[in-house]
Amino acid sequence: MRSEKPRVFVCRQLPQEIIDRLNEHFNVDLWESDMPPDRNSLVEHISKADGIFSLLTERIDNEVIEQGHSLKVISNMAVGTDNIDLASATKRGIPVGNTPGVLTETTADFAFSLLLASARRIVDADNYVRAGHWKTWGPSILLGRDLHGATLGIIGFGAIGQAVAKRASGFDMKILYCKRTPIESPEGINATRATTDQILMQSDFVSLHVPLTTETRHFIGARELSLMKDSSILINTARGPVVDQKALVEALRSGRPAKAALDVTSVEPIDMNDELLSLPNVIIAPHIASASVATRLKMANMAVDNLLAGLSGERLINCANPEVYDQ
Ligand code: NAP
Ligand code: GLV
Repeated sequence: MRSEKPRVFVCRQLPQEIIDRLNEHFNVDLWESDMPPDRNSLVEHISKADGIFSLLTERIDNEVIEQGHSLKVISNMAVGTDNIDLASATKRGIPVGNTPGVLTETTADFAFSLLLASARRIVDADNYVRAGHWKTWGPSILLGRDLHGATLGIIGFGAIGQAVAKRASGFDMKILYCKRTPIESPEGINATRATTDQILMQSDFVSLHVPLTTETRHFIGARELSLMKDSSILINTARGPVVDQKALVEALRSGRPAKAALDVTSVEPIDMNDELLSLPNVIIAPHIASASVATRLKMANMAVDNLLAGLSGERLINCANPEVYDQ
């Protein structure tokens, strides 16, 4: 007998309490693998679904959305929605949910961890000890850079950018930021608005927090990298394609900027032959900035809330294409 519950395609195995919640409300079509569904499977499952619980690994473009004949909601377990063709979803009246806010502090923690790790050479130090190089305390061993008194440039001053600034204030850093729309500097943060070029030229650390859009793709290219100080460190926890990665490889080879610390790369996972991996002055993490137990649970619950709202005909709690409700 056909279930009356809406059918939802869930693109990955999730914690049992999330699966239980989904089962309570939906007829769940679960992709049980730890790897994302391939494109054909994605299309096949979407063609039968009323809703989809997607991750940032699923490329939900126009061609895929077109096959969602009964699709009423797309719920992405991420704040970024660059993996989804929002215009195509809007055209078909499909709201797209995302998970802002709940991951802000955790992601800022990680951006700041990358900043500290690269400034104070944590990865170098661990490798040094494990390689048996630790023979004595030495006045010039593993010297890094101070955070206190240094200038941090924040490109994209939204939720995460501001949370990074809050942390930097506690470290007595000077903060420069840019965003398109001016705002009052948030309480407790002494930050100065500057142009992107000023930030690149004046900062000792530059941290990227813009979403990936047509405007921000390769926002940091060869020209921008050449403006940075030869002592500065670039941190990217936004999206890989915000930086022109080929230009970054060349820039790191030439020593300007001095280092990069990346949670995201232009292709994910990074190709093991990628030249970036041959450079000693870069730290790379596998896109884990929001990866704490508590935050991932909150993100998954928010994605379920968005599905529930969308499949009951209500406005999504967090909607990445609110214009869908104007038509
Ligand atoms: P948000 O609150 O929307 O902030 C984005 C900021 O970027 C806003 O201040 C926005 O201000 C600014 N911006 C957008 N386009 C810009 C442009 N062309 N030039 C300058 N500034 C621009 O988003 P969020 O929650 O902070 O998240 C930011 C991004 O971080 C997400 O979209 C996602 O890609 C990434 N992220 C990554 C991870 C990870 O695991 N690595 C985790 C969470 C988020 P204006 O609109 O005024 O310009
Ligand atoms: C992670 O990258 C997110 O956008 O939530």
